[in-house]
Amino acid sequence: FAPKVLAGQKVLITAGPTFEAIDPVRGITNLSSGKMGFAIARAAREAGADVTLVAGPVHLPTPRGVRRLDVKSAQNMLEAVEGQAQGATLFIATAAVADWRVASQSTEKIKKDGSGQPPALNFVENPDILARVAQSPRAQSGALYCVGFAAESHDLLAHATAKRLRKGVPLLVGNIGPATFGQDDNALLLVDEQGHRELPHASKRALAQQLVAEIARRLPR
Ligand code: C5P
Repeated sequence: FAPKVLAGQKVLITAGPTFEAIDPVRGITNLSSGKMGFAIARAAREAGADVTLVAGPVHLPTPRGVRRLDVKSAQNMLEAVEGQAQGATLFIATAAVADWRVASQSTEKIKKDGSGQPPALNFVENPDILARVAQSPRAQSGALYCVGFAAESHDLLAHATAKRLRKGVPLLVGNIGPATFGQDDNALLLVDEQGHRELPHASKRALAQQLVAEIARRLPR
């Protein structure tokens, strides 16, 4: 029976990958099952929050009592987030947003032309959803608390510390250890202004509950 540490909070969460179409049958994406973000949505709801989950393409059931908006691309995700951020008091960005999209999507399937030469694709950078929300007046005034995630292959503490400052968020959460994509467990490194602490290896469900408690403790009151 979880204590209602997020009662009265309006929580907005991004989860899963984004999919950036190249043509009607192809695209680029990131590896992400969405499990951590969905577990956090569930834990936040159980902690008494009003929860909106903006989900990229994933195969997961919606946690009970959570409002879910399904999106495909990074731009779709940004629009959904901006549409919901107004009333939110807590934003948790767990999505693995694709860094790039093709500059111009083909409306027709790109055909092999027989020359043996692959098509040349030009990419443009996607918007950084977390950084944008963190720079918004509500976040800057402290009315909206922002939490970022980081998946790194090495030097997690150094990268997470730098990323926290670069994104302009009070709390940055690193995924510890080898890729946890699709796994049911994980370990987390929490980096904030005070320093860092580890949430040791556990199920994503247990970690989500611990993380919610850690965030609740940091919220301005
Ligand atoms: O820069 P990097 O992708 O490593 O940052 C990860 C954090 O930023 C995550 O919280 C992720 O959800 C968020 N992010 C985002 N929009 C992007 C890229 C990352 O919200 N375009």
